Amino acid sequence: MTLIFGIETSCDETAAAVVEANAEGKLRLRANIVASQVEMHRKYGGVFPEVAARMHVETIHAVAHEALLAADVQPDQLDAIAVTHGPGLAGSLLVGVNFAKGLALAWDKPLIGVNHLEGHIYSLWLSDHADSLRFPALCLLISGGHTELVLVRGHGDYALLGGTLDDAVGEAFDKVARVLGLGYPGGPAIERAAREGNPHAYTFARADLGEERPYAFSFSGIKTAVMRAVQPQPAHSRRARGEESLREGNLRADVNIADAAASFQAAAVEMLIEPTLRAAQDYSVTAIWLAGGVSANKYLRTQLAARTALPVYAPPLPLCTDNAAMIAAAGYFRYAAGQRDSLALDVQPMLPLA
Ligand code: KG4
Ligand code: ZN
Repeated sequence: MTLIFGIETSCDETAAAVVEANAEGKLRLRANIVASQVEMHRKYGGVFPEVAARMHVETIHAVAHEALLAADVQPDQLDAIAVTHGPGLAGSLLVGVNFAKGLALAWDKPLIGVNHLEGHIYSLWLSDHADSLRFPALCLLISGGHTELVLVRGHGDYALLGGTLDDAVGEAFDKVARVLGLGYPGGPAIERAAREGNPHAYTFARADLGEERPYAFSFSGIKTAVMRAVQPQPAHSRRARGEESLREGNLRADVNIADAAASFQAAAVEMLIEPTLRAAQDYSVTAIWLAGGVSANKYLRTQLAARTALPVYAPPLPLCTDNAAMIAAAGYFRYAAGQRDSLALDVQPMLPLA
């Protein structure tokens, strides 16, 4: 049996977890603690890096302690400490990486740096489908900072097929939710509001990226399209100068929020599905995997499954958004492959997956 301690502080969740692997490499989640900064960031309508880093410093000890208690594991039983070292906010990453280094030194355990995006992919190994995962697979990695199509050829073997040219899809959900006055984080709020709405009520222009970029995404246009459809029209002169601005919850009287949320969600999901199906066909994959915060979206899950004969696998709902269980899971496979990092491990805010 192998026990991996995972630590994640790349953005606004302070998280620690313990994952156990048996001799066959089958994973079991022993503890998963997430201290969310959502309440604090709700006040500002988003994540402020300085605030996020400070909150990590304040909570990381308690979160780590609680994870060990919940797992009923003593430090000397651990086999390695896995920690997110990028991509993410530099100040936030530093807190987790330095904390992990301290533990590795104090407990005399190997340190393993994990890519946050790889962590999202490995959240699938903590799902009920873990035994069905085969390579090559196509992973649609969708979060607040990323929208990427990744060909997963084997453990730790990735090829980036395409990504967003501008905003990430999670960012679009968050911004549209603000426009509609639905609060932060926007994804779950839009999904909830959309359940009561008509997805055909509004037509939002979809990005046309042309045939030379078959696996690309673009989400900045749809955000503007929603703003134009629901906000009072700015004076023509301001609009001509590009001075339209995001005004939270300032809606025209005739706007139906549920309809707008449902129409936006349907358009955004459609924009995710098309390039995904194209890539799945072009690369003859065994399955389509969803990962990242936006993969929690049930409408996306059902729409995608309805449009393909391939199996569609997604992480358990609590492991879609940022957590340390996924970091421990990815860390286990890196540990098994022999990766050991020195105490010189540094944060890499722009760390690419491939
Ligand atoms: O993976 P994650 O927790 O953090 C990043 O690495 O970015 O993803 C957070 C993003 C946010 O933009 C949030 O609005 C979105 O995931 N999200 C959702 C849903 N739940 C979270 N988007 C759509 N539908 C959801 N149910
Ligand atoms: Zn994430």
